[in-house]
Amino acid sequence: MIQAVITGIGAYVPEDVITNEDLSKMVETSDEWIMSRVGIKERHVLKGEGKGTSVMGGKAVKMLLEKTNTKPEEVDLIICATTTPDYPFPSTAALVAEACGIKNAFGFDLNAACSGFIFALEVGSNFIKSGKYKKVIIIGGDKMTSITNYADRTTCTLFGDAAGAVMLEPTDESYGIMDTILHTDGVGIPHLRLSGGGSAHPASQETLEKNMHYIYQEGQVVFKHAVSRMADVSAEIMERNNLTKDDISWFVPHQANKRIIDAAANRMGLTEDKVMVNIQKYGNSSAGTIPMCLWEWEEKLKKGDNVILAAFGAGFTWGSVYLKWGYTRSEQ
Ligand SMILES: CC(C)(COP(=O)(O)OP(=O)(O)OC[C@H]1O[C@@H](n2cnc3c(N)ncnc32)[C@H](O)[C@@H]1OP(=O)(O)O)[C@@H](O)C(=O)NCCC(=O)NCCS
Repeated sequence: MIQAVITGIGAYVPEDVITNEDLSKMVETSDEWIMSRVGIKERHVLKGEGKGTSVMGGKAVKMLLEKTNTKPEEVDLIICATTTPDYPFPSTAALVAEACGIKNAFGFDLNAACSGFIFALEVGSNFIKSGKYKKVIIIGGDKMTSITNYADRTTCTLFGDAAGAVMLEPTDESYGIMDTILHTDGVGIPHLRLSGGGSAHPASQETLEKNMHYIYQEGQVVFKHAVSRMADVSAEIMERNNLTKDDISWFVPHQANKRIIDAAANRMGLTEDKVMVNIQKYGNSSAGTIPMCLWEWEEKLKKGDNVILAAFGAGFTWGSVYLKWGYTRSEQ
């Protein structure tokens, strides 16, 4: 049976940083509040006129091609998970293809908000399993600062910009994406959304005046759903694959709030040393958080490690993925 396995990772984080101190000059907040309620110290921001998510995705993919010794013309498919595409069209995948000289692939964007990367992994994995596609690039990235209202203290502390990309390839060994559980239910529609600029409410003076081009979030409602859904789905994927806490090498949670991460890890019975956490440095980069963690921890991941990914986002969307890690970087 063909399995899809991750064979490399690239990422890009823009240089500029917004610290908690910077934010406390814009809104009434403090480092103490942000650190204790969310766990973020700083987040990165992509600056520059006309620069969108594809700039970060393109840089992540260039790094990926280099690290995996892949020629651009060998790539079969690009799936770009993002909620902040450069434009409604053409797709961010098309912009990345152009930036990286990828000429023989097809590509598209996928929107599942903060769960985008794990949704895209499942989609990409099935293209690999079909036998027709050999090199599939999955990008997760967002320029969240482009939809963040820096006059709203309840949301402006949370988000940052980043992108990561992984290569999926076929293997007939028992490595790679072993199992996936994904959900979308619509329950979250009133609680977390960006309602302006789409076909329901095209950009107008009114949408601008009502702040409809910014993230709207009812934090407490989203928090409660995120905690229970992410913890439940992570426990479920462990159970149905007969994995105990001792079998898990790494837990890679979406980075939205350190308290949500801790709740999920506790439910799985995991100690802190098995949980990838970099929210303090990057904040929530939506579809970018999970590939950013994998990239940062790549040297520590070993062939055969059992890795659980879990995410939760607008929609609501949520899910988990069980990976058997496919390579040890130092042996490549
Ligand atoms: C947004 C979030 C951090 C807010 O934390 P919280 O503990 O729920 O805080 P609350 O919304 O209950 O607000 C508590 C108080 O802090 C205040 N507050 C909110 N943001 C603040 C800030 N940045 N600085 C200082 N005070 C703030 C509120 O106004 C409120 O004050 P009040 O009690 O006087 O009304 C939290 O709800 C959260 O993380 N939600 C889920 C986020 C998430 O996962 N989103 C994305 C899914 S991808």
